[in-house]
Amino acid sequence: MSDALQLLREQHAEASALFMKLERISDATTCEHIFRSLDVKLRDHAFIEEELFYPAFQERGTRENAKGEIAEAEHEHAEVKSLLSEIEKLSPTDYTFKTKIGELRRAVEHHVREEERTILPQAQRLFSQSELDEMGLKMVKLMSIHSPVYQIGGTQVQTAARDTLHRIGDFISKIGS
Ligand SMILES: [Fe+2]
Ligand SMILES: [Fe+2]
Repeated sequence: MSDALQLLREQHAEASALFMKLERISDATTCEHIFRSLDVKLRDHAFIEEELFYPAFQERGTRENAKGEIAEAEHEHAEVKSLLSEIEKLSPTDYTFKTKIGELRRAVEHHVREEERTILPQAQRLFSQSELDEMGLKMVKLMSIHSPVYQIGGTQVQTAARDTLHRIGDFISKIGS
């Protein structure tokens, strides 16, 4: 079982693997599946950070800039979510699809770099191992009940479909390129 920080790092790595696959693959249906999976994974990742990790970090953070770091991270999340919403309306055959995916990838990579360089190492010092273990469990639980409204092809997608997309992403990110 991963602790909170391991879980967040694993999800970062998984997103990066899915971006790599998306860039290499040209088949529209496969691109569509990978993007849908990446979409729910990024949204759920942002959700558990915003609901659990960021508030705990801000509360524990003694450094004056903890607030500023979280405000910046939340601003970057909003940017990522806005790009996801734009891409959700596109088809992989649209000429703007790959350009927008590139924009999304840069936004996500920038954000992940900042998190892994500043916030996660500080959190490692601020929380005990048992606190991180407990937070990891809470994150997994929260993700399993989180049921946001996803618009896929104009259709609202429920939790069961979201879970299927997660599993597709797990599979795709692990298979060789
Ligand atoms: Fe984040
Ligand atoms: Fe993150």
